[in-house]
Amino acid sequence: MRPKVYVTKLIPEEGLNIINEVADTKVWKGEAPPPREVLLEEVQGVDGLVSLLTDKIDAELMEKAKNLKIVSNYAVGFDNIDIKEATRRGIMITNTPGVLTETTADLAFALIMATARRLVEADKYVRAGRWKTWGPMLMLGQDLYGATLGLIGLGRIGYAVAKRAKGFDMNVIYYSNHRKEEAEKELGIKCVDLEQLLRESDFVSLHVPLTPETKHLINKNTLSLMKKTAILINTSRGPVVDEHALYEALVNKKIYAAGLDVMDPEPPSSDNPLLKLDNVIVLPHIGSASIKTRTKMAIMAAENLVVGLKGEIPRNLVNVEVLKK
Ligand code: NAP
Ligand code: GLV
Ligand code: GLV
Repeated sequence: MRPKVYVTKLIPEEGLNIINEVADTKVWKGEAPPPREVLLEEVQGVDGLVSLLTDKIDAELMEKAKNLKIVSNYAVGFDNIDIKEATRRGIMITNTPGVLTETTADLAFALIMATARRLVEADKYVRAGRWKTWGPMLMLGQDLYGATLGLIGLGRIGYAVAKRAKGFDMNVIYYSNHRKEEAEKELGIKCVDLEQLLRESDFVSLHVPLTPETKHLINKNTLSLMKKTAILINTSRGPVVDEHALYEALVNKKIYAAGLDVMDPEPPSSDNPLLKLDNVIVLPHIGSASIKTRTKMAIMAAENLVVGLKGEIPRNLVNVEVLKK
């Protein structure tokens, strides 16, 4: 019998075709994620699940999905999944690392440039008919060149952002779980502690996964260490930043600006005060959103799923401990 698979959102067909070859597949076609009751209903009897970062894959879901062997997450981050619970139940979890690194680093860099040079605000100014003349004091921002970029989390994406920053003649410092001596030599970057990073950086860019340790890593205290001219960039996960503290820091001019690709929650409510500020750019979580990269992610997620369904070890297995089960 062919295995049963549920896919919680339409993904590029290059991925779906790979799954369809081996499994009976059902795809949720709605624009919003499947409602919780629908998801809990649909997973009953499936062998494999392709999930998005908007789907909560927890003990309750796993309890319903008695035949579930593998969850292939269409993302590199997997904070939406209870990994321990999956391992305990012998369910494999996979993600899509690497293929989205450069695309996401491009977006982080786009936010660095756009916040520093006030691109969104300036565009709105022109469209509102307010551009009267060239002005020595018009829309002055911050320079990238010569500025210090502080990277929190020097993994795949953090490293790719560092590479870009060197091309812009920025000085790069980082704080991460482990020191990266090779990257230091290659790129001429420096490892510092968190406090030094926050005090010295003109740009602070977040590249850590969301974990209990990184939740609200940027809070009232850490924001208070940053320069008044500093810009915060978040392309990691919304809850890494305490948004209330960020709002306070921005309105009280404790920092200069923020560029956010991720929010907590997503989407933000329409009365979120951050959306009223000119020195904040908010994007709808589009870090990996290029046509090529989303296709690569679909193929990778599909291949992980299909290999797992065969009972073999998928290339991007997150919970390797599951193999001991
Ligand atoms: P990665 O290679 O695993 O890099 C994450 C780095 O964070 C690791 O190198 C790790 O450090 C470091 N880290 C983890 N916990 C830390 C802590 N408590 N303190 C300091 N450093 C810590 O992952 P990646 O591929 O670069 O992706 C990073 C994250 O970006 C993902 O988890 C995801 O949430 C987010 N993301 C967002 C988008 C988007 O669309 N906006 C796209 C892709 C990814 P060590 O290596 O030093 O141990
Ligand atoms: C996107 O946010 C991802 O984690 O891939
Ligand atoms: C500005 O456009 C200049 O020419 O300096």
